[in-house]
Amino acid sequence: MEFFLDTADVDEIREIAAWGILDGVTTNPSLIKKSGRDFKTVVAEIAAICKGPISAEVTALDTAGMVEQGRILKEELPDNVIIKIPCTPEGLAATKILTADGINTNVTLVFSAAQALMAAKAGATYVSPFIGRIDDTGADGMTLIAEIMSTWDNYNIKTKVLAASIRHPTHVLACMQMGAHTVTMPAKTFRQLMSHPLTDKGLAGFMKDWAEVEAAGNA
Ligand code: G3P
Repeated sequence: MEFFLDTADVDEIREIAAWGILDGVTTNPSLIKKSGRDFKTVVAEIAAICKGPISAEVTALDTAGMVEQGRILKEELPDNVIIKIPCTPEGLAATKILTADGINTNVTLVFSAAQALMAAKAGATYVSPFIGRIDDTGADGMTLIAEIMSTWDNYNIKTKVLAASIRHPTHVLACMQMGAHTVTMPAKTFRQLMSHPLTDKGLAGFMKDWAEVEAAGNA
């Protein structure tokens, strides 16, 4: 299981990377906008903080434009940057071409098992089904992950399933139970995964008692 951060905020990335278990980072045009920073500058900075794959998304809508952007990003940015491509017919064709170039890709905005399978067939390194946005419509996003994982079971597919649009720790745990290869989540969810009131309470008790051990000269 790989844990990715879904953000373009370098302070958050530094904070979580310091825990030693961060495997990668995903960005998208909305997260870049939120950062308020220059796209290539911020992605290069992220790539220097985290060794794992850093997704940088193309913004062209036609195949030739996506391929051109993908090649330029790979040329100008560090080696661990991979190219995020929308799950459209044009994106599928771009994925096939960039894969043939030896460029790793992340096919994003996946909302059905069929789309995930098509992206895998085009050679995508990752496919990103969006759980939370399905939940937002009143349907169950986890059903999509279950469908994709059971489809994967039938074939020898190398493409990794990267569960995205994560809203809370329960999504992460459910993805792990279903065998999704990777989960990308906001820093808030990362922090929630590591937080438990009984850990805090237990630690406070140990510290209080240890202070008394020290005060008694027994440390
Ligand atoms: O990176 C894409 C995805 O994780 C977006 O999530 O929260 O905007 O639905 P969200």
